[in-house]
Amino acid sequence: MRIVIVGQGAIGLLWYHHLARTAANRVSLLCSKRIENPPKKYSFTDINNHSTEFSLKLASDTAIAEADLIIVCVKSYQVKDAIKSIQHNLPAKAIVIFCHNGMGALENLASLTQPALVLLTTHGCKVEKPFHVVHTGIGHNNLGLLYGQLTTTIKETMTTTLEQALPSLLFVDNIQEKQWLKLAINCVINPLTALYNIDNGQLLESKYNEIVTELINEIITVASAEGIKFEFDNLQQQLRLVAKNTANNCSSMRADVLQNRKTEIDYINGYIVNLAEKHKICVPANEKLLLKVKALNS
Ligand code: PAF
Repeated sequence: MRIVIVGQGAIGLLWYHHLARTAANRVSLLCSKRIENPPKKYSFTDINNHSTEFSLKLASDTAIAEADLIIVCVKSYQVKDAIKSIQHNLPAKAIVIFCHNGMGALENLASLTQPALVLLTTHGCKVEKPFHVVHTGIGHNNLGLLYGQLTTTIKETMTTTLEQALPSLLFVDNIQEKQWLKLAINCVINPLTALYNIDNGQLLESKYNEIVTELINEIITVASAEGIKFEFDNLQQQLRLVAKNTANNCSSMRADVLQNRKTEIDYINGYIVNLAEKHKICVPANEKLLLKVKALNS
């Protein structure tokens, strides 16, 4: 397949690296415009802590115009601009896959006529320094169709290509439910770890129980108004499992705050607050976190 990865962050380079290992894949990377001179090489530290340098193929206009698959791995607040910058050049046959945290970033992309999919990953990775990514934890990928149509052949080719590159991967029919589960987990772990400057696992300490419970209850109420059903014990259990499995990780929001980057809070707790307003639901815990993280950012 001809594949263009958009974004040189941790997830972008993780997919670039694994897809480019197979000779049959023609993979190139589209970097952000602010990178004036993208390097010709990148470094990858694998799960066994071996670091190697590899050559980097940058995406040309022709690569985009011929792409079968575009994998957009930018932050939620960069999605719109990223799509705007390539849309005029996208072939009708291209499939666009989005891999960002949070929800709401795809709501005004109606002008995108290509099929749009969501790819949710629990693989752990981080940027050690620009163009050096470290694979810190083995995870699982869920892929699902958001809108548009796929032929069976294209769906199978795409799923196999991605699954072989970075297992495990499942094509799921209920991607919206999976997005909501990830959103719920991000709504708790990300702002609290950023605010208290703690590793994910520290959230399991009993002093955070009250705020975690409040957040879960608010998210369940808002999700239910949107037709998504969660059960408290189950959601709490899944959340605790992610905190445990990523115990020593620095969440993406905490990393953004520590590195003075804009956070995705508007697409995480901000998304819940907006929906709560629409449904006239009170979500004081989410509102408080939204304001506090925004204050950290400024
Ligand atoms: O955003 C993140 O950091 C991750 O989605 C998660 C699951 C919270 C683990 O750190």
